[in-house]
Amino acid sequence: MDETSDSKKDQLKLALNYPFITSHSLDKIRLIPELLPDINFEEVDTSITIFNHTLSAPILIAPLTGGTPEAESINMTLARVAHVTGIGMSVGSQKAMLENPNLLYTYQVRKVAPGILLFSNIGAVDTKDYSNEEIESLITNIQADGIMLHLNPMQEVFQKNGKTNFAGVIDRIRELISSISYPVIVRSIGCGMDAVTAKRLVQTGVHGIDIAGNDGINWIIIEGERSNGEKLAIAESFNEWGLSLRESLLRVKEISSRTLLIATGGITTGLQGAKALVLGAQLFSIGRIALHTLITEGEKSLIKLIEKIKLELKITMFGVGASTVKELHKVSYIIDE
Ligand SMILES: Cc1cc2nc3c(=O)[nH]c(=O)nc-3n(C[C@H](O)[C@H](O)[C@H](O)COP(=O)(O)O)c2cc1C
Repeated sequence: MDETSDSKKDQLKLALNYPFITSHSLDKIRLIPELLPDINFEEVDTSITIFNHTLSAPILIAPLTGGTPEAESINMTLARVAHVTGIGMSVGSQKAMLENPNLLYTYQVRKVAPGILLFSNIGAVDTKDYSNEEIESLITNIQADGIMLHLNPMQEVFQKNGKTNFAGVIDRIRELISSISYPVIVRSIGCGMDAVTAKRLVQTGVHGIDIAGNDGINWIIIEGERSNGEKLAIAESFNEWGLSLRESLLRVKEISSRTLLIATGGITTGLQGAKALVLGAQLFSIGRIALHTLITEGEKSLIKLIEKIKLELKITMFGVGASTVKELHKVSYIIDE
């Protein structure tokens, strides 16, 4: 197996054993209850339309995997679940299929989920090595609706043979946005994002930003563990690296009304997701909790989990008097110190 597929396999194993946090940064946000909601619970509408797809709720399955036979089975199941529950998804990094086109099948989920909102995925730094046509082919070959480019400088620094030359990545993003005919979303993979980076991205014309905060997994630690102890001690010095989802959202929410804002990182409940929407996100995504539930309990349990998250979102909307997802943006909150 080649190095990229190998990495994805190791990361999957380590990510499954990585502990879930017990307290999320959004738990410190308290939404102001509306005791006179003036709406009928049954009519609370969690649906949202994004890039010509209507989702039953503003939820995505975050980019996770691809490039191995095991990943193919995971991607197909995630896509089936997204289809059944009416949410969107992204495949994991498609770098493996650029290196070995025979791996395309591990990402081709359209056959099981013809109508879902679907994103392609690759590292922004990786795009420097490929032509615009090759990057666009990642989207067209799996009939996706757009592409997510991930920003992972600190993961690359700790990764064996990581790509650490980030010079020119912002220019490459700008160039891709102007030359490919699909929406481009740029994302953090777990260290959050602040307003300076977000503004620089908005200036490139990016269609969306996903700000995965550090409430989820720490890729520095994962790569430290993968280095057979060689870099683990250094990695552990970076245990607290990054901004939480709450800190990122509070910094980034005002950036641009035209840019889609996605919140990711450690979200496991519809209440946390609703709080992310109150803080300005239009969508939230679930990564590791979806993967963990699927692998340890199976497809039916994952469907149940997503339906539970959707119901928690609907109940929260009722509790704050929001009959639509858009109205959540007007809800007041306080921050516990
Ligand atoms: C096993 C695993 C593999 C991942 N692979 C990718 C990837 O290929 N591309 C990407 O943009 N993000 C990737 N991520 C990051 C997730 O999309 C997400 O941003 C992160 O895990 C935080 O969200 P969570 O706490 O809900 O998992 C991966 C995460 C996990 C757990």
